[in-house]
Amino acid sequence: MGKKRKNPERVEHYDEAPPKKRPLTNPLPEGVHHYQDIEEVPWDIQKYWHQGYSIFSKYDDGIWMTDDSWYEVTHESVANTIAQHMAEAAPEGKSIIFDIMCGVGGNTIAFALSGKWKRVYAIEKDAATLACAKHNAEIYGVADRITWFQGDCFEILGLDESKKGNTVEALKAIAGSYGVIFASPPWGGPGYREAEVFDLEAMQPYPFSHLYESLQKLTPNVVLYLPRTSDLRQIAKVVGEDKKTQIVHYCTKGSSRALCAYLGDWGSLRLGDL
Ligand SMILES: C[S@@+](CC[C@H](N)C(=O)[O-])C[C@H]1O[C@@H](n2cnc3c(N)ncnc32)[C@H](O)[C@@H]1O
Repeated sequence: MGKKRKNPERVEHYDEAPPKKRPLTNPLPEGVHHYQDIEEVPWDIQKYWHQGYSIFSKYDDGIWMTDDSWYEVTHESVANTIAQHMAEAAPEGKSIIFDIMCGVGGNTIAFALSGKWKRVYAIEKDAATLACAKHNAEIYGVADRITWFQGDCFEILGLDESKKGNTVEALKAIAGSYGVIFASPPWGGPGYREAEVFDLEAMQPYPFSHLYESLQKLTPNVVLYLPRTSDLRQIAKVVGEDKKTQIVHYCTKGSSRALCAYLGDWGSLRLGDL
């Protein structure tokens, strides 16, 4: 991606008229940006600017981001591959997917685009981030397949005993009967890259065991998106070595970006063209 927000490759190869540009809502909600030039981008996230079209190929159509989401978002090709794997390996009878920490929508949009799920439920606690996800889903034409919730996923799904008043009972029931859960939790900021082996129990603010034990109360069928250097021995210890867990690395340009732990009754994943 060059300095200016223009993708020559996209423009040159388009036979049809250029995509309709979304008028920018002016002003955007607080904390939401659609940067159009690297000079607008805060210095500490400028290194992510050049990955813009890898993050969202439709960036130029007016994608909204928060500043944190530049390093938190799941890149489009990875999100699409995960969505494809979850669709192929979904346990029998499961037709609803929950993206419980949906960020600006990288995975949520891919799940909706996959066509596998009757409904995508997406939860995000940060209002500005959720505004981005909703807007981005519109750009990808899938907003009508997604139901959004703003709030703490543990409270909304009835997993926080101290905040039972915030539980959405219908959602909890759907999750238990028909749902699978995907969670892309915070990894504690960009510093996770420094760890040779990432300590999943030191993951902030939700250690692996907390995520696993909480979500198991709803469904065993959970996929967690974790750092590529995650300590797999910790997963085996928490899950139990007798239980099947599939670990899949998701790569771009030949190196792993992250891994997913497929916990529960997922079919065997047919891997090949990652
Ligand atoms: C790594 S990001 C998710 C990125 C997302 N997969 C995407 O592609 O945009 C984690 C998100 O979880 C949200 N989050 C953290 N704790 C949460 C909670 N308890 N309930 C709901 N959302 C939460 C954060 O605000 C952040 O946006």
